[in-house]
Amino acid sequence: MILVVGAGVAGLSCALAALAAGADVELVTPGRIFPDADRLAGGNTALAQGGVAAAIGAGDRERAHLADTITAGAGLVDREAAAQLTADGAGAVRALIQAGLGIDRGPDGLPELGLEGAHGAARIVHAGGDRTGAVLHAFLSDRVRDAAAVGRLRLTEGAHVESLVRDAGAVTGAVLRGPGGVRSTRRAAAVVLATGGYAGLFPGTTNHAGARGTGVLLAARAGALLADLEFVQVHPTVLHVAADGTGELVSEAVRGAGAVLRDGAGTRFMVGRHPLADLAPRDVVSREIHRVLRERGETEVWLDATGIERAGGAGALAREFPGISATVAARGLDWAREPIPVAPAAHYTMGGVACDLDGRTSVPGLFAAGEVASTGVHGANRLASNSLLEGLVWGAAVGRAAATDRGGWEHRGRGFAELLSAAAVAVPEAAAHAAGSAAATVFADPAGGGVSATTAGSTVAETAVGSGPEASADARTQSATAVTAAISAGLGIERDAGGLRAAATVFERHSGDAAALAALVCAAAAARRESRGSHQRADCAETDPAQAQRRPLRLTLRTAGPHGLAAAAGAAAAVGSAREPASAAAAPSPVPESVRSLSSC
Ligand code: SIN
Repeated sequence: MILVVGAGVAGLSCALAALAAGADVELVTPGRIFPDADRLAGGNTALAQGGVAAAIGAGDRERAHLADTITAGAGLVDREAAAQLTADGAGAVRALIQAGLGIDRGPDGLPELGLEGAHGAARIVHAGGDRTGAVLHAFLSDRVRDAAAVGRLRLTEGAHVESLVRDAGAVTGAVLRGPGGVRSTRRAAAVVLATGGYAGLFPGTTNHAGARGTGVLLAARAGALLADLEFVQVHPTVLHVAADGTGELVSEAVRGAGAVLRDGAGTRFMVGRHPLADLAPRDVVSREIHRVLRERGETEVWLDATGIERAGGAGALAREFPGISATVAARGLDWAREPIPVAPAAHYTMGGVACDLDGRTSVPGLFAAGEVASTGVHGANRLASNSLLEGLVWGAAVGRAAATDRGGWEHRGRGFAELLSAAAVAVPEAAAHAAGSAAATVFADPAGGGVSATTAGSTVAETAVGSGPEASADARTQSATAVTAAISAGLGIERDAGGLRAAATVFERHSGDAAALAALVCAAAAARRESRGSHQRADCAETDPAQAQRRPLRLTLRTAGPHGLAAAAGAAAAVGSAREPASAAAAPSPVPESVRSLSSC
């Protein structure tokens, strides 16, 4: 039996491919896809606006899509993975259209293809205007629901995976926690994590509330290698009307259709900053907005879509972007007549569980697909609308591989082999679960009491609070607030050594999954002493050609964590072939070396 965890585009595609290959499948989702999908099951997939990138237009070429993907990825894209994405992706999208996916079509009946940032051609397939993710999710959910209805697939809703079961170094199942907190164990020939990314940890985010990296931690605690965690993509245009930075995405497709960005004085600040101006890669546009906001002392820039309405006639915006138009109107704004306020927010995580071209992790029996995985396909910055595509391509690849696996656990792809042979950054579990430990004093404010982190114009002050399972609800809320503030201050658009160090200290003082994952991201960001793609270091502003490689990261576990989540000592070192200092696993220092020795570039 193959256990697929997650019901977004990757999980659904995986389940369907595994079924088609003759496997028994159980799909587990914290939400509900039967009979109607809810937002928890749809996750970020159902929220996706822009579309699916695929070179299916007349005159477009897969190799052109590949070239754009590689350019956006700022020197870190795994070429084999990206070639698989663009070639298999075009086939997958054609197959979906043939199977009846209700995409938007032009007057000639052909797929209407949109343009988005850093694409050299209009190749974004969309549906329902700006509701592509919801349409695609409903389409795939229907097929899974049909399979469940005739007993071909077991669907477990309202459940999440608490831990992975391991035998002799391989993942052989999972412990589920279902409705009412009831636990049960599933044995499986393969477990597939399709649980999404961790951009939901950031206070300003476009993500679904469940996107908090649970799958990354499950895999890390089972000993799997992680990679590229430092690369967190910030989307440039999120409607900025709430003081806490939360807001709805305004798709890049809007700029693709002709909208432009202006500062508070009405100036088009992207012109002259990049040859593609407003349609530069996302990391470039987000950084420019960050610069403008800092220079002008403002909290938002302006997205001017009025030209789309003028060119297309009255109602053009509402026709092309019905979902965003409704959101904008609900906020009392009229974007057909005036620019709307926008600001960047965390959107997508390129990092995750290191996987090969078939989604195999470094731990036998454990696969990952979609945003939870890090195949290197996006490098340091994902190209617009390549994420749904990734879910389709790797969902299917993993489903096929898991269904036909005969236990050999052979990896496919040069990039993954290189990653396995590279020295891993070792991060002790204690780094995120060391409330009161000596580690917390390493970077503590010598004046005592709290820790103060200042980076890129923001400050977080934190005092140690009880945060373990025994802590009061108030203490837990305080702890969550401190961790979120440290994520924002230390891991935002612009990072530096001081900010990372201070954030690490906060993460060490608090227990819980958010602190644990943030500590991992912090260690990865500290280890990359350069600026590249979505990872920008104010103190290491240049891109360093000598660091143009991905870096594995491994969590080293202590015997018992505050929530009983940590596995047996040394378990992390039991599988995988990445080199790792033996001492790190045997006697973990609470603070990862990458953070401790963090000083210059
Ligand atoms: C958007 O519509 O701008 C988001 C699509 C994506 O994240 O690729």
